[in-house]
Amino acid sequence: MQKKWWHDKVAYQIYPKSFCDTNGDGIGDLRGIISKLDYLKELGVDIIWLSPIYKSPFVDQGYDISDYYVIAEEFGTMEEFDELLAEAKKRDMYLIMDLVVNHCSDKHEWFQKALADPDGPYADYFYFRKGKNGNPPSNYRSYFGGNCWEPVPGSDKYYFHMFAKEQPDLNWENPKLREEIYRMINWWLDKGLAGFRIDAIINIKKDLAFPDMEPDGDDGLASCWRMVENVEGVDELLEDLKNHTFAKKDAFTVGEVFNIGVEDLPDFIGENGHFSTIFDFSAHMLSDGEHGWYDAPPISFDAWKKAITDSQMRVQNVGFEANIIENHDEPRGVSRFLPDYAQNADGAKMLGTVSVLLRGIPFIYQGQEIGMTNCHRNDISEYDDISTKDQYQVAIDAGCTKEEALACCYENSRDNARTPMQWSADENGGFSTHAPWLAVNPNYKEINVSEQEGRADSVLSYYKELITLRKSPEYEETFVYGNVEPVYEDTDTVFGFMRMGKENRQKILVAANYGKEAVSLPLPGTAKKLLLSNAGRRKLADADHITLESLETAVVLLKA
Ligand code: GLC
Ligand code: CA
Repeated sequence: MQKKWWHDKVAYQIYPKSFCDTNGDGIGDLRGIISKLDYLKELGVDIIWLSPIYKSPFVDQGYDISDYYVIAEEFGTMEEFDELLAEAKKRDMYLIMDLVVNHCSDKHEWFQKALADPDGPYADYFYFRKGKNGNPPSNYRSYFGGNCWEPVPGSDKYYFHMFAKEQPDLNWENPKLREEIYRMINWWLDKGLAGFRIDAIINIKKDLAFPDMEPDGDDGLASCWRMVENVEGVDELLEDLKNHTFAKKDAFTVGEVFNIGVEDLPDFIGENGHFSTIFDFSAHMLSDGEHGWYDAPPISFDAWKKAITDSQMRVQNVGFEANIIENHDEPRGVSRFLPDYAQNADGAKMLGTVSVLLRGIPFIYQGQEIGMTNCHRNDISEYDDISTKDQYQVAIDAGCTKEEALACCYENSRDNARTPMQWSADENGGFSTHAPWLAVNPNYKEINVSEQEGRADSVLSYYKELITLRKSPEYEETFVYGNVEPVYEDTDTVFGFMRMGKENRQKILVAANYGKEAVSLPLPGTAKKLLLSNAGRRKLADADHITLESLETAVVLLKA
């Protein structure tokens, strides 16, 4: 396997709106990010992914871009962006941005021109289609609810949107559109960006016949996702994109890609794949409800362990996936993947160990490194997220009480991860001197950076040790390139795997006990050295057994 500059890197996702506010308007900003670069460096971060910072009406929090060449004034200026880039570089850190090109904002100039002339050239930057017998062209339900087709005012046409109606889908079949997108991407790469996280990219290929599908809900609509699943030909578009942009710059790209078959993995992340890597969402998809959040199944420990293990086995001979516990679309991992008794610092460390030491590129989401949790709200009006509002209504329409509908938002809402970063026990968690755009999680008084900094047994200190271990010259080769072999697969409460060095023959065991009771485990060899423990354990040399207490995690070097 050819080595790439990004193979050994650790990435961190910043959600700029909620990271750090320096001008007291309750909204995080670029200056805030600059002010925290040293914090990230000390944590061990190499690559920073910024969720969108482009000009936007923020209907979907910046994932609706109205100008790809302009920084949203809420966040700052292009000069500040350049400063951020330079300051990151000074610290040997790489910056990647979010690339949102399946759709743009309805306020984008292209769409405004298309609306002004629904038969003109800009209409062909989008999907403008005539309706059928007074109905929309097809019966697809958008991801955020409602029909994917929205009438074009003053015309007999509709335009297509898979997300909100303020996010019209771009027509990738149009070479002019592609050219505009490539020019924009290259413009950012030329500035010195290291690459992109690529949003909803699998959706760019449409079935141009837009066939009706069997309805899967009482609204008579069928999830638009099924059209994407059924259509062929996305590979050609993705190759075209890569060859005109990223490939020329050796850029790092991570695709937001759900649910591709094992047979397609080489095309996506093989040596000459469409992307450097894609996120592993296999554990997250376990809680996909059939109809929405209200019927989302809980995630069992067994299913979770199996999903991750299977995914590791599938990928390791092909390429690298990016491992996440949470992101800006997912609830907090501590609240989601841990049983009640484990939703504490020990549990957060355990989860972190598994994620960071798996094979792949670890992505840490802001606040994960201090164990931030989901956030209770008392009323739907306290939520901001467009998808949460939709899912709340879906739950109510399905017969849930207000309490039940709120409970499923607590479990699933994207706002769980979007509450302000908890820097200190000061007002608003030290995020801002002003009331934040989205209320801070009240547990900031207990869970915050300043309390954890310098406390040796904090989650934050542990994350630093964990990343240091992953990158230590003695073991890095094994953690980056070594294979994964599952162990203790049949032990009910234990998630265990070996990292097997290739040339160096190292064998490193990672074992975590998610159970309430201690378990005694035979080691798959003789211990040489304990590399990391979340339980203050100090030694293990020469042992051939280990007893893991409840929530204990150990990383053990075995004799070769
Ligand atoms: C991706 C983003 C999400 C956004 C959607 C539409 O899934 O991560 O936040 O709402 O795409 O752009
Ligand atoms: Ca601000």
